Amino acid sequence: MAIRQVRTIGDEILRKECKPVKEVTPRIKELIEDMFETMYETNGVGLAAPQVGVLKQLVVIDVEDGNQYVLINPEIIETEGSQTGYEGCLSVPGKSGIVTRPYKVKVRAYNENMEQFELEGEELLARAICHECDHLQGQLYVDIVEGELEDTESLMEEEEEQE
Ligand code: NI
Repeated sequence: MAIRQVRTIGDEILRKECKPVKEVTPRIKELIEDMFETMYETNGVGLAAPQVGVLKQLVVIDVEDGNQYVLINPEIIETEGSQTGYEGCLSVPGKSGIVTRPYKVKVRAYNENMEQFELEGEELLARAICHECDHLQGQLYVDIVEGELEDTESLMEEEEEQE
């Protein structure tokens, strides 16, 4: 396993559309492991392959609900409700912004054994699924942010003061 370099905003690769994964080769398996390792190292809750420079439809998610989700060729098939809250991205370091997302989503994808499955997520998981699927289309949350981007650090300080 290895930690991969996370591409940041301004890098053209983040704006490209990703291609479907046809087969989970040993290389793809290694990529999945590396993506988890990179995500944990950088304290993220999700990571999409283009963020590590690979234009494939593959995302990993761990919102600390006890599951490690691997979504290959994901497709959001249902959405319900809405939620508005802060969102960040490892490709936009140090920043956060307000984004409205569905409250609940259902996604159809393949796992690392290329078995199709459906996953339903609410709240943070729904937000993560939408955010990561957007990456596969070359979209970043800054495209749909409501208002200005803010410094994550100062937001966290404000939160501490309120406690
Ligand atoms: Ni992101």
